[in-house]
Amino acid sequence: MKERILELRKILNQANYDYYVLENPTLSDYEFDALMRELIELEAKYPEYYDPNSPSLRVGGEVVSEFNTIVHKRKMLSLGNVFNADELEEFDARIKEILQTNEDIEYMCELKIDGLAMSIEYVDGAMNYAATRGNGIEGEEVTHNIKTIKSIPLSIDEKRTMEVRGEVYMPKKSFHKLNDERMLKGESLFANPRNAASGSVRQLDSKIAASRGLDMFMYTYVDCEQFGIYKQSDALNALEKLGFKTNPERKICKGIKEVIKYIEKYTEKRDSLAYEIDGIVIKVNNIRLHELIGYTMKVPKWAIAYKFPAKEVKTRLKDIIFTVGRTGKITPNAVLEPVFVAGSTVSRATLHNEDFVLSKDIRIGDNVMIRKAGDVIPEVVRPVVEDRTGEEKRFYMTDVCPICGSKVERKNDEAAHYCTNEHCPAKKIESIIHFASKEAMNIEGLGDKVIEDLYNLKFIKDVTDIYYLDSHTHELIEIDGYGKKSIENMMNAIEKSKGNSLEKLLFALGIDEVGAKTSRILAKRYNDIDLLMNASKEDLINIKDIGEIMADSIYNYFHNEKNIKLINDLKSIGINTKYLNNNENYKETAFKNKNVLVTGTLASYKRDEVKELLDNLGANVVSSVSKNLDYLIVGTDPGSKLEKAQKLGITILDENEFLDLLK
Ligand code: IVH
Repeated sequence: MKERILELRKILNQANYDYYVLENPTLSDYEFDALMRELIELEAKYPEYYDPNSPSLRVGGEVVSEFNTIVHKRKMLSLGNVFNADELEEFDARIKEILQTNEDIEYMCELKIDGLAMSIEYVDGAMNYAATRGNGIEGEEVTHNIKTIKSIPLSIDEKRTMEVRGEVYMPKKSFHKLNDERMLKGESLFANPRNAASGSVRQLDSKIAASRGLDMFMYTYVDCEQFGIYKQSDALNALEKLGFKTNPERKICKGIKEVIKYIEKYTEKRDSLAYEIDGIVIKVNNIRLHELIGYTMKVPKWAIAYKFPAKEVKTRLKDIIFTVGRTGKITPNAVLEPVFVAGSTVSRATLHNEDFVLSKDIRIGDNVMIRKAGDVIPEVVRPVVEDRTGEEKRFYMTDVCPICGSKVERKNDEAAHYCTNEHCPAKKIESIIHFASKEAMNIEGLGDKVIEDLYNLKFIKDVTDIYYLDSHTHELIEIDGYGKKSIENMMNAIEKSKGNSLEKLLFALGIDEVGAKTSRILAKRYNDIDLLMNASKEDLINIKDIGEIMADSIYNYFHNEKNIKLINDLKSIGINTKYLNNNENYKETAFKNKNVLVTGTLASYKRDEVKELLDNLGANVVSSVSKNLDYLIVGTDPGSKLEKAQKLGITILDENEFLDLLK
């Protein structure tokens, strides 16, 4: 029976390849289904022949309870962007300068597929894992979903251990079909194929991904030099030979002028493709030059993404209204005739501030051009002056707060106007919304709308009142829209938030200039809010990443009486004010709660990156060798620290041992 099972797997793998990679079917649907049924039955009967990479698993059904974290063996980089020919010429000139040559550079031009990046590892020819890019250093394991994409081989004939990267995407046809179905079911629609692909890949139940018609183009053969491949063009051909799907529209271009021609061609062809692209990726074809050309902090210097200009559409500006933010900032907003732009209907767009509106001479009643910046945030590009009838009304900045009617004031060195009323309800509501938001205290169920309601009902006047809401449960149940269950969930979420680690509370306080990242830095540095409150300005400025303005703002915040009272009130409610570095957010890894020091140069990570990685794993990254050190990670040219650690008998890891432990 084993032979038949193996034979069926082979036939079905080949049929999938013919259909989904070569797009040249060799079996009828009927034949395929019959063979698949036979395989599934045999596998059920003979579980001893289970194979995690059997084609029967493609139908989906595997469910995971959470996503594992995968540390990428090589960082998954992103690309720098250029928007026009001049910037491309500059990119080309930089490379020529580094290589000290005037000769035309050979570039590989590829379509920039608009999906999400994925890394897939094969061990001895069998798929081992598939992981999202995540923050580039570590991503989420989504193997169960990736196995349902039929153009991706589950095993390759050559028994290689290798990593391949590419873009998972949803073809336009699958996207429209999916949204049509969702519309009929009254479900929310995906804004674009990228979001739909990304949402499908991040599902715990692989049946969902299996039903979404996803596909993948491979574009990177990681470390292919070890297989004797030294050109990006050869790497793509080699991937094709191994059975992977690559994008056929690629072209080797000699010199930047040819690159520009290629871009022009695909700017025209873009809409006729079966999938969305958002630009063109240009890579130096000779991989051996990549190290030489090098990298900046975040991106390679040997590749660049040319981004297509955002699509603009015309609509009418019906009105300009004002909103008030947490800091009291008053923002003019465009009320638009609803219009469909890049995947969603837009009826509002920020107009930033008075200067923005006046410098563009935007008038109420104008026809305006709208586009989405970065394909997400709608913005008004310009008024269509040719369409004016003379009926349009000039814009005047409001001189009173739209919420409380108090005077507004423009600060000297800023473009923004602010409400002068310290007790403006809009400020209060926004600050409470911020306090409860996900990155702050993360109180699920306390969203914008609920907080606005609770404020208007006078149940919450201040953030501390959130923690006394339980005394209002009976009244809340009386109110339409608040079910018993949702109130119970909200109360649990409120209770749970008391145990947050310090960084969440610091961010929640909404200190000017202090974002989530700075909050983490401060929490780690001071451990306890009391120590932070006693820090001098000099202490704060001495912290890397904290400048004078930020230090001033932090210092002033903690020396303001009202804020001191707020913190005392929060403490007496039982809210944690300490940094919980051993909190459950950290996965169980070899480095959790360990003192770790890195010395010398690592090949896989820059110094900052490895520190961040260790930080994220819950390690204490220290700067000197002592007997309390748990691990010394050693790269090339380690210096005296290695000797000292050896003397103290500290565990020493070379780069490979370190990478192994990361797994
Ligand atoms: S190469 C260092 N090639 O674009 C090289 N990326 O903005 C890294 N993308 O994260 C990527 N098509 O998700 C490369 N042919 C292509 C691509 C491509 C789409 C995406 C990818 C990457 C992002 C960078």
